Amino acid sequence: MSQFKHIWLLSLMSFIIAGLTGFLYRYGMLYPLPEWLHFANIRHAHSHLMFFNWACPPIMAFMAAQIVDQSEISKIRSFKACLYTMLFFGFLSYPFFLLYGYHSVQIGSASLPIAAIISGLVMITWYWFAWLYIRERSLNRKSPSGVLFEAALLALIISSLGAWGVSVFQFTSIDSPLTGSAMTHFFLAVFTEGWIVLGFLGIMWSISDVDSHSIKTGWLWIPILFGSMLIFPFSLIQTLVSPIMLYTAKIGIILIIISMTIHLLLFIKSKVFSGFLWKTVIILIALKILFQVAAILPFGIWPGEHGLRVLYLHLLLLGIFSVIIAEVFLPDTGKIAKLLFIIANLSVIATLVMISGHWPPSFAPLNLYVWVMAASILPVLLSIRLYYLSIRVNC
Ligand code: HEM
Repeated sequence: MSQFKHIWLLSLMSFIIAGLTGFLYRYGMLYPLPEWLHFANIRHAHSHLMFFNWACPPIMAFMAAQIVDQSEISKIRSFKACLYTMLFFGFLSYPFFLLYGYHSVQIGSASLPIAAIISGLVMITWYWFAWLYIRERSLNRKSPSGVLFEAALLALIISSLGAWGVSVFQFTSIDSPLTGSAMTHFFLAVFTEGWIVLGFLGIMWSISDVDSHSIKTGWLWIPILFGSMLIFPFSLIQTLVSPIMLYTAKIGIILIIISMTIHLLLFIKSKVFSGFLWKTVIILIALKILFQVAAILPFGIWPGEHGLRVLYLHLLLLGIFSVIIAEVFLPDTGKIAKLLFIIANLSVIATLVMISGHWPPSFAPLNLYVWVMAASILPVLLSIRLYYLSIRVNC
């Protein structure tokens, strides 16, 4: 993947900046921040940079590297042009989200929602990538990873429809906060459970040694793709969700659980996933499945509850996804740094468990939020180390 080294470096830089922004959020919970910085905007800046520049270009670079040969210079150039543009708009959106969030900015006589406009441009680069990938993909078509990557792209495009829906909805006269919120959460659910999950599963399949001949590949992606489109009601305020919405969301979660369990059982057999790093990833995937099982059992757990949502998202995005990405872009180097990166990420997740609202306060350490803040800087420090190592090696 050395042809995409600079894409990787820019993505890792985005992780560092977005991670620092997450730390700033935690810092601000304990110490005063300048008046012009608002928590909601810091969160927007963090989550959008992570989504735009960390959760997209590395998966896409990996996908592209699977279907184009090192010698196909012009094809590599087309993919790079697309990914650099994507990263550029991702970086450009950051200061606007940080300073203004989704609010309009006065430019001359016009008042424009700049961050939303730049987000639209980022989504156009997703379509650009999808077009390039579909044009070049035939080589990889039949393997499970190729099928998963195509399904992931489909999820990415479907998720973007939810995001466009939010923008269009703002200009209509319909006064329904539920509809706006449903579209936002539709985007979030299909982006995370669809694009990111199918994307990292595709990466895992492409490096695994699981014999795929007897496997019906439909089970690996169809339930996840459809499930991701059904689960968004779980992110809404519980009292606003009608019984029929709840019923469909539960069907969606069951579909995801079935498919994820099949992946897990197959990965457990793979010799490739035997070291500490991959074992940790496998355990975290099992925890992800358990979390979703708990959401449909009568334990009174509502996944959309703030603390639980933040915990679940970071288990998936920081604990599983980010570790896989660091491993595949730095396969032969930085063993200790990667190990410490996992431990740092697990520390963040452990502190999120303690502030999830479901942890007995008597088991929490004194000055809990100081620990939460301290843990949040650790992945940043380790990713700086990974950045330094990446500059030195051919990844
Ligand atoms: C570097 C380590 C990370 C730190 C320190 C961190 C920190 C934070 C903090 C402080 C929040 C706000 C929590 C709140 O509202 O109570 C947050 C939210 C969020 N983070 Fe992270 N994060 C990290 C990694 C990631 C990664 C890797 C991703 C995605 C690829 C991500 C995606 C998100 C999203 C989507 C939210 C918004 C959650 C919501 O309100 O629905 N974070 N993060």
